[in-house]
Amino acid sequence: MSLIEIKNVVKYYKLGNEKNYALDHISLNVEEGEIIVILGPSGSGKTTLLNCMSGLEKVTSGKIMYDGKDICKYSDHKITKFRKKNIGFIFQTYNLLENLNVYENVLVGANLGNRKVDIDDILETVSLKRHKKKMMYQLSGGEQQRVSIARALAKNAKVMFCDEPTGALDEKTGKKVLEALVDANEKYKTTMIIITHNPGIQYIGDKIVRLNSGKIVSVEENKNKINPKDIPWG
Ligand SMILES: Nc1ncnc2c1ncn2[C@@H]1O[C@H](COP(=O)(O)OP(=O)(O)O)[C@@H](O)[C@H]1O
Ligand SMILES: [Mg+2]
Repeated sequence: MSLIEIKNVVKYYKLGNEKNYALDHISLNVEEGEIIVILGPSGSGKTTLLNCMSGLEKVTSGKIMYDGKDICKYSDHKITKFRKKNIGFIFQTYNLLENLNVYENVLVGANLGNRKVDIDDILETVSLKRHKKKMMYQLSGGEQQRVSIARALAKNAKVMFCDEPTGALDEKTGKKVLEALVDANEKYKTTMIIITHNPGIQYIGDKIVRLNSGKIVSVEENKNKINPKDIPWG
């Protein structure tokens, strides 16, 4: 059995009388400890897929099974508990706590997790150590993105969903962040699902999934994984 089995998932949004299909019959298996990279143009359903897979959004129909249990059937309370226990998330829109500083935001992540982590160490990884006392409004977009990444790394969850984790970062910082993700994958067998616009990032994945217009166009096994340091950027 795969860790996650997505079966025939449909998600549409109603606009007046029209149905706008964000996900149009998606099926996909995710194995434990795997890195999956999802590529696709803007509007192809990447964020919707991630949100549904992680139980953040409800599907219109279909199943999302974790270890054989369909999380689409869970109550709100049960899904919140499930997410808290199993899921880490790097949001495209950061979702940081504005009235906490950098260190405290990352501490929130660490407190949700069940492993002891060194927050200064994580801040070092994302090059934010010297900003640790700053509030969110004092940070650039890229710095906020790194706080969001640090928070997810601190939680050290079983499955980590990353929505364009390097979208606001330059090559050097972006590669450092990807190294941290790959490191977590190797050290803790963290299952990673990474969305990106950057085609170079596909080469760090075990599996490469292409989306277009809410449909999976292809699923490819990547036999030649490369180190984030060596990927072509941009
Ligand atoms: N809350 C929403 N209400 C209506 N339409 C939405 C909503 N969220 C996403 N969509 C639509 O679903 C499609 C897929 O969006 P999204 O998953 O954000 O794509 P991507 O992340 O690949 O850019 C788009 O056509 C988008 O406009
Ligand atoms: Mg998106």
